[in-house]
Amino acid sequence: MSAPEGTSSRRPTPFGPLIDRVESAAVLDPVAKAIAKRIRSAVRPGPSKDALSGTWLGHPLHPTLTDVVIGSFLSATLLDVLRGDADGRAQARLIGIGLTAAAPTALTGANDYADSERGSDRVRRAGLVHAVSNTGATSFYAASLVARRRGAHRGGALLGLGGAAMLVAGGYFGGHLSFARGIGPDQTVFDPGPGDWTAAGDASGLPQGRPTRVVVDETPVLLLRDGDRLLAIHDRCSHRGCSLSELGTVDGEQVVCGCHGSTFDLRDGSIRRGPATAPQPAFEARERDGRIELRRRDG
Ligand code: FES
Repeated sequence: MSAPEGTSSRRPTPFGPLIDRVESAAVLDPVAKAIAKRIRSAVRPGPSKDALSGTWLGHPLHPTLTDVVIGSFLSATLLDVLRGDADGRAQARLIGIGLTAAAPTALTGANDYADSERGSDRVRRAGLVHAVSNTGATSFYAASLVARRRGAHRGGALLGLGGAAMLVAGGYFGGHLSFARGIGPDQTVFDPGPGDWTAAGDASGLPQGRPTRVVVDETPVLLLRDGDRLLAIHDRCSHRGCSLSELGTVDGEQVVCGCHGSTFDLRDGSIRRGPATAPQPAFEARERDGRIELRRRDG
């Protein structure tokens, strides 16, 4: 039996109680929902959203940019702590780099958040705390830079330490969202489907032109009879996991996901429009003795 959403079935971890508290805090919902709604209305499916999502990169863009921000800010603080650069110029430069990267990082994060929060109350709340922590960290480092430019190096270093603490908290929540809540990874990666021809059901039961969900080797597959052809791709959208056969719309040789508008080519699973960053695994399909058989295209 699967574990309920939450942490009760997990081994205790140092920050587990804090995460659980945040994820249980329904008081955060009105603000979190309002923010996500605004982002969704501002960033519609299309080229801008694809750019922010990382569709062009084949990888979510946000975690790539966070490395620049976190690396620059924490390096500045480490130099302060280790007294690695007494006149503070290196620290100021590093903080400047972090502040420059913070704006696109925040934009990509906001875009990802708007695509994630509707699936789970816990994701919504943890995502809000992640964003608030990182915004606070950025504000601390901005204040630190101002203080340094006024000659208050010690005050700047202390403000940087405060920013570092918030950055670590924000980073922890970000890691939790990715690794514990599955926000970001390709949602098809753990069930690629059968490598050899495998029966997927009775051919006579497959209607013409209507997407049908079948399960082979515990992998859900969208199957479509299109004239003489059989088209088949993974049914779980690689973006956030929505069922393409249940929520999507078939439009010619493509299917548009009903959750955030990712569009996939039904012939080979390739992305025609994001925000998905990974293509759908595609399958070969054939009829044999009245049954439909499938196997992965990449064998
Ligand atoms: S789940 Fe987001 S586009 Fe499909």
